[in-house]
Amino acid sequence: MLTKLNEVKAHAEKMLQEAVSIERLNDLRVKTLGRKGEITLLLRSLKDLSPEEKAELGMAANQFKMQLEEMINKKTDEIKQQEMEKRLIAEKIDVSLPGLPFMRGSKHPLTRVYEEIRDIFVGMGFNIAEGPEIELDYYNFEALNMPKDHPARDMQDTFYIDEEIVLRTHTSPVQVRTMEKLAPQVPVKIIIPGKVYRKDDDATHSPMFQQVEGLVLDDRITLADLKGTLMHFARKMFDADLKVRFRASYFPFTEPSAEMDISCVMCKGAGCRVCSNTGWLEILGSGMVNPKVLEYGGYNPEKVSGFAFGMGIERIAMLKYGINDLRLFFDNDRRFLKQF
Ligand code: DAH
Repeated sequence: MLTKLNEVKAHAEKMLQEAVSIERLNDLRVKTLGRKGEITLLLRSLKDLSPEEKAELGMAANQFKMQLEEMINKKTDEIKQQEMEKRLIAEKIDVSLPGLPFMRGSKHPLTRVYEEIRDIFVGMGFNIAEGPEIELDYYNFEALNMPKDHPARDMQDTFYIDEEIVLRTHTSPVQVRTMEKLAPQVPVKIIIPGKVYRKDDDATHSPMFQQVEGLVLDDRITLADLKGTLMHFARKMFDADLKVRFRASYFPFTEPSAEMDISCVMCKGAGCRVCSNTGWLEILGSGMVNPKVLEYGGYNPEKVSGFAFGMGIERIAMLKYGINDLRLFFDNDRRFLKQF
């Protein structure tokens, strides 16, 4: 039995010496101290010996068991330490290397253009008003002098939620909403930014787009105020020496109505593809607020007059940056967005 113990000892010590990895140490642990390990089996077989032998051998075997356990643990720790040191050297970080740059976000071109428009009008003393995108037919059409059978509704076909509720087709309904709140107070000088919706979809029309509306009311507002204000805006927005022209037009909510053109920002009026060789670009609709709309808003048209205008932000942005497809604004392609 003693020889058996010595054999087991010798074998275990040899394996310990040869164990150069955590895996092999674990292996050794199982083979010697495990449930069917050599030492475990040896200890178990002691029960057949005489009490004296049992005491002697048992002590020796148990002592060795403890020693071996300790040695395995020690070697495991050593190997772990060595591996850690190796990794620390291999993975050394060079803190003097240049860092990875963070990708910088930027404002969407439409946000930029809106902010520019806003700042020009705020600079002229305008306030900002807003209204709902889901709008009553009443504000979107009716109170803007477009009763149910009015042909002008055709141009602004939209998404009906029910017979009386629509996705607004323009920001003009906020004119009446604001008038209702402020009447009979003057002056009123507001711009109204926001999203609008129409049943349109091509390179220059999107079912959702954005407008900036303007409304000015006071006791002696004339067409001259309209022209001066909008000309100042256009020159600030595009080019200090551009020309503007007003063409008679029709909107149910203004009388008279006019569309404003600016001399082409690409060819300066000489004629090019962008302006279809006319030298002019249409940028907004405008007019003197129709007395009926003033009444809907709660103002007395005998005492108060005003002008209004509306422009598409996408269109202004396309002209400003020479973009020929409106859908680019909504594709979220970083190659496009990075250019602004
Ligand atoms: N609401 C018009 C549209 O979307 C634009 C417009 C024209 C607004 C003339 C106005 C205006 O306030 O006076 O086509």
